[in-house]
Amino acid sequence: MDATIASPLTLPCGAVLPNRIAKAAMTEGLADSRDNPTPELNTLYRTWSEGGAGLLITGNVMVDRRYLERGGNVVLEDDQAMSRLSTWAEAGTKAGNHLWMQINHPGRQCSRLVNSEPLSPSDIQLELVGNFARPRAMSEDDIQDAIRRFARTAELAKTAGFTGVQIHSAHGYLGSQFLSPVTNKREDRWGGSLENRARFLLTTIAAVREKVGPEFPIGVKLNSADFQKGGFTLEECVTVSGWLGEAGVDLLEISGGTYENLVFMDTEAKRESTRKREAFFLEYAEAISNAAKIPVMITGGFRSLTTMNDALAEGATDVIGIARPFCVMPDFPNKLISGDINEVPVDEHDLVLGQGKWSPGSPYKAIRAINNQGQAGWYYHQMIRLSRHQQPDRNPGVLRTFCAQMLNDWRLVLRRKVRQARG
Ligand SMILES: Cc1cc2nc3c(=O)[nH]c(=O)nc-3n(C[C@H](O)[C@H](O)[C@H](O)COP(=O)(O)O)c2cc1C
Repeated sequence: MDATIASPLTLPCGAVLPNRIAKAAMTEGLADSRDNPTPELNTLYRTWSEGGAGLLITGNVMVDRRYLERGGNVVLEDDQAMSRLSTWAEAGTKAGNHLWMQINHPGRQCSRLVNSEPLSPSDIQLELVGNFARPRAMSEDDIQDAIRRFARTAELAKTAGFTGVQIHSAHGYLGSQFLSPVTNKREDRWGGSLENRARFLLTTIAAVREKVGPEFPIGVKLNSADFQKGGFTLEECVTVSGWLGEAGVDLLEISGGTYENLVFMDTEAKRESTRKREAFFLEYAEAISNAAKIPVMITGGFRSLTTMNDALAEGATDVIGIARPFCVMPDFPNKLISGDINEVPVDEHDLVLGQGKWSPGSPYKAIRAINNQGQAGWYYHQMIRLSRHQQPDRNPGVLRTFCAQMLNDWRLVLRRKVRQARG
């Protein structure tokens, strides 16, 4: 019988996802000034757990306190906050679903407010309105240290009660910087050929597996492509997917884009062929699934039950990855599975300044940045509300959430700096 969203899925390691709906990672910004989980995170994840998804993937948790994706990130590099982590894990698995920690290193996508000398495979600066400093090219020691940190964080996540980890290697963060020829100009064994550029990710997976053992799920989030001139291509993604299958990965999540081209949020103008398919990376799924020979999760744009069940029945994907709708209707998985609704809420198309030069495809970089940041801010606003037991609030416009998000991010970074200065 064809799989549907309600079908369980057995992963290569033996773990079973109770259904095919997964909440994709969304950075919450809800850690305290010591980068530890808070009661607000527990509330948010308890709400999502009760909402019925088979798998919840946390927002990215940093493996190194010196480099954050944003203020308010949880950092996990030692066992000093183990009881708080366990409470978070317990809340997020309340309904018997899986809860995986997404583990990440931002590389050069670390705001200058957090660190004025970020790391990257090469010293190529991010071209984004002065927010990001020129990175230092990583030494061999830096690379080995980052790999060890991924493994240590995964081990600690397992100890805390998370039921799996996902290594973030998409969206232009460190793993994805190694894979892309735009950001990786190295001439040693970590750069050049695809085999060398994939070495960081494959060595990290091996190090994580050694720490967590054979029965613990390891996922990887990978770009189908960077959608950037000279970047990581679909053909390369297909080859790397095959290697990930051989490396013992349990679930391969496919997304795409980087900070310089946010296709994963679908804020750039869509191609007609993609528009028709609703889920924007679905057209690449077949080639990737065939090469990977492991379960695949496609994320981005899934909104209607028909598209989800068709994609599962065709074998185009094994898991349906969804992110933004969890912020406005946290229990939509239960509602979709029970047949109460046939599609999940779509807000993102309203969340732009307008049409033409104000649209997501605006020729002006600053307008595009406001739209992108404002849209992210709109979803942060909803997560904050859910974390306080409040209902979602669809009212704020994108300009308001843009300003609120900028102020909040500065506040979070500043609060952390003050705490660090006090010791
Ligand atoms: C507010 C917000 C935060 C996000 N944070 C992360 C993150 O921490 N890690 C990640 O891999 N993707 C992150 N994403 C991307 C989502 O996981 C997902 O790939 C994207 O939203 C497309 O899926 P959707 O159309 O179902 O929302 C984020 C997206 C949003 C809207």
